[in-house]
Amino acid sequence: MKMRFEGQNCLVTGGGGFIGGHLVDALASEGAARVVVVDNFFLGKEENLTDAKRRHGDKIRIYREDAGDLSSMTAVVWKEAPDIVFNLATKALLYSFFNPPGACRTNLDIALVLGELLRGGAYGRLIHLSSSEVYGTARTVPMDEHHPLLAETSYAAGKAAGDLLLASYVNMFDVDILTIRPFNNYGPRQNDGQLAAVVPLTVKRILRGEVPVLSGDGQQTRDFMFVHDTVRAILNLSVIDGLQGQVFNLGSGDETSIRSIIETLCRVMHYSGDIRHEQARKADVMRHCADIAKAKALIGDIATTTLEDGLRKTVDWYRNVGWKT
Ligand SMILES: NC(=O)c1ccc[n+]([C@@H]2O[C@H](COP(=O)([O-])OP(=O)(O)OC[C@H]3O[C@@H](n4cnc5c(N)ncnc54)[C@H](O)[C@@H]3O)[C@@H](O)[C@H]2O)c1
Repeated sequence: MKMRFEGQNCLVTGGGGFIGGHLVDALASEGAARVVVVDNFFLGKEENLTDAKRRHGDKIRIYREDAGDLSSMTAVVWKEAPDIVFNLATKALLYSFFNPPGACRTNLDIALVLGELLRGGAYGRLIHLSSSEVYGTARTVPMDEHHPLLAETSYAAGKAAGDLLLASYVNMFDVDILTIRPFNNYGPRQNDGQLAAVVPLTVKRILRGEVPVLSGDGQQTRDFMFVHDTVRAILNLSVIDGLQGQVFNLGSGDETSIRSIIETLCRVMHYSGDIRHEQARKADVMRHCADIAKAKALIGDIATTTLEDGLRKTVDWYRNVGWKT
């Protein structure tokens, strides 16, 4: 049976990161001739690519470059001749509080570079990963792709700017760009160090014998999705023709409070101690829940892993493999 990416050269910006590493695995397994990673390893890890390199050897090519630098990216695409580019490179949302312009600019600069290279014919199709963060706190629930863009952090503002920029490239130059807005992902290999999100942070604290931390009253909600489901959905969408200029949410469609996800993790990890309460983070989105009808109509069920199962798999990974940090 022909595999879906057989013979194709694929490039993944941010391929050394959490979702990116899983995407690289999946593309190589789906027959890609070459999977080219461009990552500056700001948060990415070489270990995320170890499995892919062991299984697929020379097919995996890694460039330690800045995807927002036009000359670096020109050199890479000139050498590797990608057919399709998946844009996942970013600096984590929490980086916004340390370097607001840097968080914003990273997202916009990379979109600009990839748009320019696409316009010049350097490759054929861009699968651009945006984020649910562009919507800000839900004005309507569930949130569909027409929800207004009300970014609350400079990271999200940069993502929203990148989305609008790429939409303008579709409009002006008729280039082939598909934008995907994942909601909150969790799973093996997610960064558990600086700038970490709630799931890896909580798992790590409990594994180290520390007290988990709840920010604010914990009533903030998110739509959580297991990373393998996200990668499958990205690939399923990326092989459909005629989606130029379209935007798709990816989530579970379920709304879970931060308090509830921490309590579920405590249960899964048999932790019955205290939870420490901290002041609410500024600019924390208060409510998120995806309307996934648009993607579902094309690719069927999306989040097939239940939260409890996904969290168990995640905890097992951190317990048995994890990062040596
Ligand atoms: N994880 C989530 O919950 C989530 C939710 C919504 C959207 N997304 C989007 O999905 C994509 C992947 O997210 P992730 O969780 O894997 O993030 P991640 O931080 O694990 O991966 C991002 C990767 O980009 C790299 N990077 C940063 N700046 C770069 C640059 N200038 N050039 C090249 N590489 C650079 C980092 O080193 C890292 O490896 C991002 O675009 C993110 O906005 C993620």
